Amino acid sequence: MFEWKKEYELGHLMLDKEHQELFKIANEAFCVVEPSQKEQKMSSLIQRLSDYFEIHMMHEEDFMDSIGYPGLQNEKKSHDKIKKDFQEWRENHKHKSISTLERELAFNIENTIITHIKFEDMKMRHWCEKYHIDIKGVRWHDTYLLGNDLIDKEHKHLFEIANEAFRYVPAHQRKEKIKNIIHELYKYVIEHFSNEEKYMESINYPALKEHIVIHENIKIKMNEFIKKFSLLSLKEIEDNLALFIEEWVVLHVIHEDSKIAKWELNNK
Ligand SMILES: [Fe+2]
Ligand SMILES: [Fe+2]
Ligand SMILES: [Fe+2]
Repeated sequence: MFEWKKEYELGHLMLDKEHQELFKIANEAFCVVEPSQKEQKMSSLIQRLSDYFEIHMMHEEDFMDSIGYPGLQNEKKSHDKIKKDFQEWRENHKHKSISTLERELAFNIENTIITHIKFEDMKMRHWCEKYHIDIKGVRWHDTYLLGNDLIDKEHKHLFEIANEAFRYVPAHQRKEKIKNIIHELYKYVIEHFSNEEKYMESINYPALKEHIVIHENIKIKMNEFIKKFSLLSLKEIEDNLALFIEEWVVLHVIHEDSKIAKWELNNK
């Protein structure tokens, strides 16, 4: 099994979450299944792993680019090499036995993905630490565009509001400021979700119901946070703030809303 360790953390919430997700997918290789389902399981796992890795590399490179990281070209090279190796391995894997495949997959994950996170991605963390680059805030990237002007405009604005929460203000004003931002975010999220739902309806998006459930859950969680806000200490608020913003805004836009665009692209 591949175990996630704190020392692999870059300090960037989204990239760290994606790295953890890669570990999770990789670990599925060790789940026991019926012998008759093994082949099917392996090929879907390999597909998911390479799809996820591909998207993740794009996010990582975008982020590095946005902070002017000088190691970006090396990082890209390292990513390309992993992609190439993985692809070559996939092309040859058809003639191998399942047990060989399992062994090789574990070896590949360890020697490419995990080694890469530990040694290459980590260089960026050290660089950020050295030059006091803030790695925490949320950044908009054009790769998040869905192609619908209104929804894209709203997503960008959600990122702007969220980003405000990370901007520096003296400690005695922090709580009040965060409270205002969360309220503003909540109000805007409600409006945006409703527009997005109308949009999904207009294109007959088949997963509309599921998407609405996700929206409802986000609204409930935001509401709970707002309700207990005054009872929380500044430390408790700050500890959770980045995680909430990631969950409510960033990850939702990147992983859920992007499915709408993908579907629309394939069904035009
Ligand atoms: Fe990387
Ligand atoms: Fe959205
Ligand atoms: Fe959404």
